[in-house]
Amino acid sequence: MNLKIISSTDRPNSNALLVSNYVQRLYAAHGVEVEVLSLEDFPLQHVVGGKYGKNIPQVEEFIDPIINADGLIFVIPEYNGSFPGILKVFVDYLPFPEAFEKMPMAFIGEASGAFGGLRSVEQFQMIANYRNALQFPERVFISRVEKELDEEEGLSDSFKEKLLNSQVENFIKFVESVQQKEIDQLV
Ligand SMILES: Cc1cc2nc3c(=O)[nH]c(=O)nc-3n(C[C@H](O)[C@H](O)[C@H](O)COP(=O)(O)O)c2cc1C
Repeated sequence: MNLKIISSTDRPNSNALLVSNYVQRLYAAHGVEVEVLSLEDFPLQHVVGGKYGKNIPQVEEFIDPIINADGLIFVIPEYNGSFPGILKVFVDYLPFPEAFEKMPMAFIGEASGAFGGLRSVEQFQMIANYRNALQFPERVFISRVEKELDEEEGLSDSFKEKLLNSQVENFIKFVESVQQKEIDQLV
């Protein structure tokens, strides 16, 4: 199963990347090797000037592994009551309309505030919905992320840690069932 975790900010040393790396280990514990991709590596310098709809090899190289994945896990911080601008730039350079069509997606929010990225995730889900993604309903919101997350130990709130493990376990099953349905339609 080819899953990718998208650390959805270009901020260096981000909590999103720490969360993503931790979640990658949870997937490994469930027997699924998952790659983390960071929007820090989105080739922003190659899209300056608004090169929408153009063939940009550096952009294609970045997005190809993402659009060819079996499922995506977005780790999204909250910036100004929303998601980071780089995440919208990334989406605006995806092939339209097919890129997220029937793509299984799971969401994890993180923020220093009390709502743990609820707003950033829900606003991004509106876009995922518009692009016909298959959104996994178990979401996890990590509030006070600086205090809550230990890179090695995970989340100090055991209930949140349980939710995170549940999301990992059930998202794997969700992706498997989507794949199975696609096979069933072929036979
Ligand atoms: C530009 C910017 C805007 C932010 N706006 C919010 C906000 O609206 N609500 C909130 O709870 N935290 C806000 N924060 C704090 C971040 O959510 C918090 O530091 C988060 O862990 C940053 O994510 P990152 O480390 O993955 O970049 C903001 C941080 C930045 C850099």
